[in-house]
Amino acid sequence: METKVVRMTEEQIDRERIREAGDILRDGGLVAFPTETVYGLGGDALNPQSSRRIYAAKGRPSDNPLIVHIADMDALSLVVKEIPESAQRLAKRFWPGPLTMILHKSPKVPYETTGGLDTVAVRMPANRIARELIRAAGGYVAAPSANRSGRPSPTVVKYVSEDLDGRVEMIIDGGDVEIGLESTIVDLTSDKPMILRPGYITRQHLETVLSEVEEDNTLMRDDSGQVPKAPGMKYRHYAPKGNLTIIKGAEENVIAFINAHCAKEQRDNKKTGVIATDTTVGRYCADVCKSAGCREEEETIARDLYRILREFDDENVEVIYAEAFEDSGIGQAIMNRLLKAAGYKVISI
Ligand code: TXA
Ligand code: MG
Repeated sequence: METKVVRMTEEQIDRERIREAGDILRDGGLVAFPTETVYGLGGDALNPQSSRRIYAAKGRPSDNPLIVHIADMDALSLVVKEIPESAQRLAKRFWPGPLTMILHKSPKVPYETTGGLDTVAVRMPANRIARELIRAAGGYVAAPSANRSGRPSPTVVKYVSEDLDGRVEMIIDGGDVEIGLESTIVDLTSDKPMILRPGYITRQHLETVLSEVEEDNTLMRDDSGQVPKAPGMKYRHYAPKGNLTIIKGAEENVIAFINAHCAKEQRDNKKTGVIATDTTVGRYCADVCKSAGCREEEETIARDLYRILREFDDENVEVIYAEAFEDSGIGQAIMNRLLKAAGYKVISI
């Protein structure tokens, strides 16, 4: 299949191309598009064939449900059985934005889209290109992240093309994304609201609207003996090809430890890499040293983390060490993804 790539910005939306993309989706085709979190791989959420095609294009197990993206509040009532008050409040405060809610699904949503579940994940993205596309497609776009299964989610269009060229009808290039990590997922179908995937909207944010918010026990560890509640979180995601280990401890100790290990790996002819921060990046002796951003501005780290993981692949780095980050606030989302990328390999020194 020939993949058409079109370019536009949120400020200058190309209505003609959006209409064309909407028609592709209405006809059961696939379009990759930007959102504020990561790029999405879109298909018509109410068409079972489209969802099947999404799974095939991604190489994703079909028991891993998709998020239904909507552009207007009216659309919510069609895809869910009922809208609890908690959902109303969250939507009012955080939509459009990087928050996904799990609710009981209505019969309109095919089981192909929900991976066989009676619940459905719904999100209203803030990115204007995404919202115009959703409207042009008829209002309901199922979209997982636009990566091949197991790779880090794409935050720049180059990696969308790398993973999906020839597998989708169209890719909309809307430039680099703003946030860089996937949306926060909160389950509203259990007794108490529960975070299934941490993101830019933190527990503290959610607690400004909901009195009590729980967290899935498996978010920051793999030894809980439990299966993650979001089916997608059980897979080893976000993984670079190189062997990644997180090093936790006082800054000077971490630098000394990583440099000693890099020197040893280099003697064994291994290509080494380090994920550092702006203040430490100059102090490492690895073959490839990258700063994820500034510790005081964790948004910069969130935005660049996946791109950096991909770049290590591009440069065939075989052994990667990463500094650890604070695991509160948005740092929790950063560490959740980094831990998964590392297969939970952490050395505390
Ligand atoms: O920011 C985002 O959410 C991006 C952009 C494109 O919107 N999308 C995204 O989709 O990250 P995906 O498919 O890569 O991740 C969706 C996650 C998976 O872990 C999936 O298992 C979980 O949401 N999920 C979907 N429906 C669910 C449900 N009914 N119950 C529990 N988890 C669900
Ligand atoms: Mg994904």
